[in-house]
Amino acid sequence: MFRRGLAAALAAGVLVSMLAACGGGQDSGANQSGGGSDQLTLGFSQVGAESGWRTANTKSVQEAAQEAGIDLKFSDAQQKQENQIKAIRSFIQQKVDAIAFSPVVESGWDTVLKEVKDAGIPVILTDRAVDSTDTSLYKTFIGSDFVVEGTKAGEWLVKEYEGKLDPVNIVELQGTTGSAPANDRKKGFGDVIAADPKFKIIASQTGDFTRAKGKEVMEAFLKANKDIDVLFAHNDDMGLGAIEAIEGAGLKPGTDIKIITIDGVKDGMQALADGKISFIAECSPLLGPQLMDLVKKAVKGEQIPTRVLTEETTFTQEQAKAALPGRKY
Ligand code: AHR
Repeated sequence: MFRRGLAAALAAGVLVSMLAACGGGQDSGANQSGGGSDQLTLGFSQVGAESGWRTANTKSVQEAAQEAGIDLKFSDAQQKQENQIKAIRSFIQQKVDAIAFSPVVESGWDTVLKEVKDAGIPVILTDRAVDSTDTSLYKTFIGSDFVVEGTKAGEWLVKEYEGKLDPVNIVELQGTTGSAPANDRKKGFGDVIAADPKFKIIASQTGDFTRAKGKEVMEAFLKANKDIDVLFAHNDDMGLGAIEAIEGAGLKPGTDIKIITIDGVKDGMQALADGKISFIAECSPLLGPQLMDLVKKAVKGEQIPTRVLTEETTFTQEQAKAALPGRKY
């Protein structure tokens, strides 16, 4: 669209008059194609709606697209890689100017990404990475460092149990199997606690980043293990589901079982402020505005950094109380 329109105009030597024509009076251009509009079209394939984080991320992307005047073709993959691949192929067919997606899992993208590259459409990875060795298949990756998030969670735990000698029994609720945040958070956390043999992960299973699954798996953990000291949940939603399971078992979350989560969405921060969660490593979902800037630059062929890292912090219970009133999501 924009790119192809621009190329055609340059070839015909009519750039100035075309820009003048596009400058005013055009319709929204939302579904135009073939060079009739200067509005950029972005195909965006979202993972799904599995968590509060994801809802906030979708809102950020949709609002930022509107703000930037970008026509957003949004597709919800419902946590399925095959749906994302279909959506990406459909974006190629629709001749969008750029494609962004948050890959549900890390592996298995090379074929479709080569198709996008052959079509001359720039790709931006948002939030989650792919494990392709051919980095020419995408322009940049914007998002968090999930290993660092897991490291921060582990470091808090090590400090919390400093000087104590008794074994610390940990259960882990992993994110979606094969996803970058599940792989990386597990690694970051595991590497830190491995330095002290008193920390033992006695059970670890996926809760698919959802509240319902987090509850279900925590119920099973509680049935199978009498002595759980700590839960490490790869996101707030699974932690919140686990809180229901812990309370249902007649135990006090935050006291009988310490809970560490990742994200920092409002519900998680509230549970932290209430003393049910003990520590949260933040993962920011507000990627929309930066994504739109990168899309504009990538389509114009401007140089963009190959990695754009999101700034994040951590929250203790006191910090959550202070941050909650101004929390946007
Ligand atoms: O990829 C980011 C992760 O995906 C968030 O931590 C989680 O809540 C979401 O579902």
